[in-house]
Amino acid sequence: MKQWYKNRKKDHFYQLAKKNDVISRAYYKLEEIDKKYQIIKNSSHVLDIGCCPGGWTQYILNKNRNQSVVGVDILPMEKEFSKNFTFYNFDLNEYDKISSLFMSKDYYFDVIISDIAPNTSGNQFLDQSNSYNLSLLSYQFIKNFLKQGGSFLVKNFQGEDTEALFKEVKSQFKKASYVKPIASDKKSKEIYILGLEKK
Ligand SMILES: C[S@@+](CC[C@H](N)C(=O)[O-])C[C@H]1O[C@@H](n2cnc3c(N)ncnc32)[C@H](O)[C@@H]1O
Repeated sequence: MKQWYKNRKKDHFYQLAKKNDVISRAYYKLEEIDKKYQIIKNSSHVLDIGCCPGGWTQYILNKNRNQSVVGVDILPMEKEFSKNFTFYNFDLNEYDKISSLFMSKDYYFDVIISDIAPNTSGNQFLDQSNSYNLSLLSYQFIKNFLKQGGSFLVKNFQGEDTEALFKEVKSQFKKASYVKPIASDKKSKEIYILGLEKK
C-alpha cells in the first residue's frame, strides 16, 4: 500500500489533477477518449455509472453548460455539482430497482458511460469476474435507456470474458472498439470498450 501511495504521488496525471483542481485523474481518461471520438456533444444527457468521486462528471459539466448528468454509485457523492447533476446512491446489483426508478423519470440518454470497478482483492480471477459482472450490468442500461445513435463506454478488467462483452457491444452498435487511454496505467488490466451509434 505504501509503495502504491508513493507511485501515485509520482504519477503525471495525479499531479496534473492536483494542479488543475480536478477531482480525479480519471478525468483525463475521459478527456482523451472524448477528444478522439467526440462522444460528449453539446447538450448531451449522460448517464455516469460508478461516478464517484466525480472526475468524469466534472469533465462533462466543464465541457458545456447545457450538459446534464445522472450519476449512480454505491458510495455517497461528496462533491456538490450544479443543478444539472442528479445523483443516485445505489448498488448497481439493484438493477431492477434502478431501472424502475429511471422508467418513472422517463430517462433517455444520449451517452452512457461506466467507469465502474469492483474493490480489488489481489486475486486476478475474482477481480476480473467481478468486473465483468459490473460491466455487463452497465451494458443492460443501453436496452431501455440509450437513444438510437447514442454512445456507450464501459470499463472492464481484461480477462477471458472481455471478448464476449465486446461482441455483445458490437452487436448493438454500428462501430465498436477497444480503447486504452494513455492516462490508464499501462500495468493495469483495465480496458475500455466503446460502442458508437447505437442501432
Ligand atoms: C474508478 S471509480 C470511478 C471514477 C470516476 N469515473 C471518476 O471519474 O471519478 C469506480 C467507482 O465504481 C463504484 N462501484 C463499485 N462497485 C459498485 C456497485 N456495485 N454499484 C455502484 N457503484 C459501484 C465505486 O464506488 C467507485 O466510485
